[in-house]
Amino acid sequence: MKKQILQLLRQNSHQISGEKLSSVLGVSRVTVWKHIKGLISHGYDIAATAKGYRLVDEPDTPFAWEDPERSERIHYFESVGSTMDVARDLARKGCPHLSIVVADLQGEGRGRMRRVWHSDDGGLYFTIVLRLAMPPQHIGRVNFYASSILAETLREDYAVEANVKWPNDILVDGRKLCGMLSEMEAEGEMVTFLNIGIGINVNNDPTLLEPEAMSLKKLLNRPIIRKELLRAYLNRFEQNLDFAMSEAVIDRWKTYNATLGHSVTVVTHNETVEGIAVDVDSDGALLVEQADGTIKRMIYGDCFHE
Ligand code: BTN
Repeated sequence: MKKQILQLLRQNSHQISGEKLSSVLGVSRVTVWKHIKGLISHGYDIAATAKGYRLVDEPDTPFAWEDPERSERIHYFESVGSTMDVARDLARKGCPHLSIVVADLQGEGRGRMRRVWHSDDGGLYFTIVLRLAMPPQHIGRVNFYASSILAETLREDYAVEANVKWPNDILVDGRKLCGMLSEMEAEGEMVTFLNIGIGINVNNDPTLLEPEAMSLKKLLNRPIIRKELLRAYLNRFEQNLDFAMSEAVIDRWKTYNATLGHSVTVVTHNETVEGIAVDVDSDGALLVEQADGTIKRMIYGDCFHE
C-alpha cells in the first residue's frame, strides 16, 4: 500500500485528494490516512490540507517499498551489527535467492582479513544473498562479477572513472570508494548460499578514519541519493547473473582493473609476496611474478600497489 500511495503522490506534484486516493486504491479514506501517517513517521514530508495530500520531500532511505519490483526481497534496517550476519541468518532459514539486507548504520561492520568496516551515516551498506548452483571452486567469479558491475554502474550512471583493484575494491584515482566481502556455505560439492556484502562511501566522509579513502559525494561535489544508487546497481546485477558464473567474467573485470602490470605486495595471514601482477586466472587468483621469475598464485590477500 505504501508503495502505491507514494507512486500516486509522486505522479501528482500539486496534490491529490483523499477521496481520489481511496477510490484508486480501493480502500477507505481512514485507511489512506493511516498509511499517510505511517509514511510521515518514516520521514516523508507530506502536506495534508483540506484539499488533499502533497509530497513535499522524501528521505533517502532504502525502504523495501522504494523498490517495488523487489520489495518482497529487501530487508531494510536503520541499524544492525553487520548486514553479513543478518543475511547469513536469513539464508540459513531459507530466504529466497537475491534477498537483500540493507542498513543505514552498522555497529560491527566487517571488512576483509578480519578488519573493521566503519559504517557511518550516509554510506550504503548491503548484502545480497545468492543461491547459485555452483561448485565452491568457481564461486570467486561471482565476486568479480559484483565488482565489475559496480564499476560499470559508477561509470555509466554517475560518470565516475571507477577501477577495480584485486580482488574486489573499487578505486577512483587510486583512492578506495568501495569494499566487498563475501561469505558462503556449502553442502558437499555445491554452494548453498553465497552472500556478497558491499560497502560504498556515498555521502559519508571516510577520510576521518581512512585518509586514503574517497566518497562519491566528495568526487561529484553533491549528495548522492543512496536508494537510487542501490536500485541502479541491483538492476544491472540481476540482469545478467548467468554471466557471473562464466570464465568470461574475469575478462570483463580486467577491462576495469587497476592492478595488472603493477608492482604489488600481497599480504596474507601467513606470507608476504612481492612482484609484478601479471594476470588473474579463470577463478580470480592473482598471478604474481616474483624477482626470481617464479609465478606465485594468490587466492586471497591484501594487495598493495607500489
Ligand atoms: C573490505 O574492503 O575490507 C570489505 C568491506 C565490506 C563492507 C561491507 S558493508 C556491508 C557488508 N556488511 C559488513 O559488515 N561488511 C560488508
